[in-house]
Amino acid sequence: MLLVASVAALGGLLFGGDTGVISGAILFISKDFHLDTRLQEFTISVVLIGCILGAAVAGTMADRIGRRWTLFVAGIIFFVGALGSAFAPEIVTLLVSRLVVGIAIGFSSVVAPLYISEVAPADVRGALVSLYQFAITIGILAAYMVDYAFSSGGEWRWMLGLAVIPSLALVFGMLGMPESPRYLFKIGRNAEAHAELEHIHGPGDVEREERSILESLATKAAGFEVFRDPTTRLALFIGITLAVLQQITGINTVIYYGPQIFGFAGVGSAQASIFAQTLVGTVNCLMTLVAIFLVDRVGRKPLLYVGLAGMFVGLGTLAYAFAQPHLSGSLSTIALFSMMLYVGCFAFSLGPILWLLLSEIFPLPARGLGMSLSTLGNWVGNFVVSQFFLTMIHDLGSPGTFSIYAMLCVVTAIFVRTMVPETKRELLETIRVGTASASP
Ligand code: BGC
Repeated sequence: MLLVASVAALGGLLFGGDTGVISGAILFISKDFHLDTRLQEFTISVVLIGCILGAAVAGTMADRIGRRWTLFVAGIIFFVGALGSAFAPEIVTLLVSRLVVGIAIGFSSVVAPLYISEVAPADVRGALVSLYQFAITIGILAAYMVDYAFSSGGEWRWMLGLAVIPSLALVFGMLGMPESPRYLFKIGRNAEAHAELEHIHGPGDVEREERSILESLATKAAGFEVFRDPTTRLALFIGITLAVLQQITGINTVIYYGPQIFGFAGVGSAQASIFAQTLVGTVNCLMTLVAIFLVDRVGRKPLLYVGLAGMFVGLGTLAYAFAQPHLSGSLSTIALFSMMLYVGCFAFSLGPILWLLLSEIFPLPARGLGMSLSTLGNWVGNFVVSQFFLTMIHDLGSPGTFSIYAMLCVVTAIFVRTMVPETKRELLETIRVGTASASP
């Protein structure tokens, strides 16, 4: 099971690596291709446009050709995009290749958590899907390190090209993985699905799960018709809102623009800023382990509350510190600690638990499409925040900008309290949205 989850989590590694790597590479690409600011911004954000496109079609594809083959195709697209980026002779080829990479990220951000949650036994599902978020954070950290390693020679082609290795691992890994039993039931290959379930749980232990899966497939609605059902519509509302909230509470301002924020806080050299960013990346990675250990024990909602409270404090401190001119001497230290607190708290709460909940709240017939649409919301939110962050800092100032993100953490906590169901240890088929108030 761990092997299956780990191979699928390679999709997360590529997600993190390919979104994080550009922050360092852009400095050298701009120089080689003589990019003006507008083209620089576009070189950074084109990958997010690809993610939006990829996420939009991934669910339908996962329902047509299966979870396993969609991840296999994602691996191939990752590979092509990495090669294209590494050998791009001019900027247009590079932009197209980054768009292609984005499509692969979009695919895997929908299908990897979906696949993991569908093959996982209920009592460790949280840990295994959190492993996917852990892989995202390792990817981000590895990208910062790769950037750092190749920065002395400005070798951006290596920075972008190294992704071919995990891409191939994903392609060959998926060849040896089983298909999701839930998908096999969905397309009527019941004998195989049954065997797969027995393989996962051991013989004799699958009756209840099999019955619930078959019952959940009784609705014959296809495509968007599945959202005629009010409960499924509610799940979609919760999924999209939470996915957007994960982004508009500002995580990627720190992940993508960390060195710039340290610059605003008075850190002098670029090298010191990149070093500080590596510390933030390490905290992001390590704190995800907390979720892996706790999410199936204490539940999703308690972790979300604690995490959101910490994120609020981190952002609030950052806003407060930026608003105090007399703190200028210690500002960079305070900025570093508040950013670590913020990212660390995100890492065991809203980071992994969003992907987990998205893979849990939809009934099987609506799962592919529901995850696709919610993840699409996540990427659109990401694009908007990343695109306007520097403008917000310019127009509203740093205190104003970080205060807004802090307030949105409060909004998220209220939303979780009132709308999100606790899904700890429930069979995927018995999870019901619309029961949030019954859970703490
Ligand atoms: C988010 C990404 C973010 C990452 C940071 C993920 O859960 O979806 O946008 O960059 O966490 O670790």
